[in-house]
Amino acid sequence: MKLINTISELRAELARYERPALVPTMGNLHEGHLALVRQAKPLGDVTVASIFVNRLQFGPNEDFDTYPRTLDADCAKLQDAGCDVVFAPLEKELYPEPQTFKVLPPPELADILEGHFRPGFFTGVCTVVMKLFQAVQPAHAVFGMKDYQQQMVLRRMVQQFNMPIAMHTGATLRASDGLALSSRNGYLSETERAEAVQLHQALQDLSHATQAALQKGELNLEVLQGLEAKSSAQLNTRGWQTDYLTVRRRHDLQAPTQFDASADATPEPLVVLGASRLGKTRLIDNLEF
Ligand code: PAF
Repeated sequence: MKLINTISELRAELARYERPALVPTMGNLHEGHLALVRQAKPLGDVTVASIFVNRLQFGPNEDFDTYPRTLDADCAKLQDAGCDVVFAPLEKELYPEPQTFKVLPPPELADILEGHFRPGFFTGVCTVVMKLFQAVQPAHAVFGMKDYQQQMVLRRMVQQFNMPIAMHTGATLRASDGLALSSRNGYLSETERAEAVQLHQALQDLSHATQAALQKGELNLEVLQGLEAKSSAQLNTRGWQTDYLTVRRRHDLQAPTQFDASADATPEPLVVLGASRLGKTRLIDNLEF
């Protein structure tokens, strides 16, 4: 496995390949990232993982400075997972001057949910991913399902800019109690770690309650909003501070409009998404149903 820090060296290394498969990451890798690398491996003729903590996607009061930088441990894990090339640029390599050109995703997709609570987040993500795509020129790219809205925004970016990249989504890996694996789980104290599974539990409960109301023909937008508010309140009573816990249509992340569960109605595929803070740690998760 080669560790490369500059775009010029990366281009020289990748010149002999036709179909690189890329897994973009911010490092501090866990099994979830490694599963994405294993998924990427058979897709291309060389597997590249990028490690870059992207200042542009962090808000002023977020954890950019404290985000764990664990390059040596990350490289050892990537090597074991069969990665061929690690691209780990310094900040001045990717942003040699202030990044004044940016990718502006559409507000109806990027200013809701995560984008509402983290203004500018998806502009930062799209801009860095556009730059990583230019550097690697991948034929395939793999992103995690845990960042549900992120992978949707990036798919739309690739589609609208006609980028010749096949986008793949990797399933969320979970600990045995159901907590979604995340680099930020490392911030949790022992007590918080035991509590953290309650976010997954809340998503499950909300999806079950929504399905039950739908089957009984009792669901409408007002009822759904009531169920969402109840779920958030229950989580907050346990000491969480919830940003959102909400049921959305999978295809555009807007509120559902189809409340008819009868046999001749076309079902609307749904996803429940949540973001909540436990102590100082903000966790996100989602479940399709
Ligand atoms: O999901 C992440 O780790 C980051 O948002 C990404 C896609 C690597 C861009 O910095």
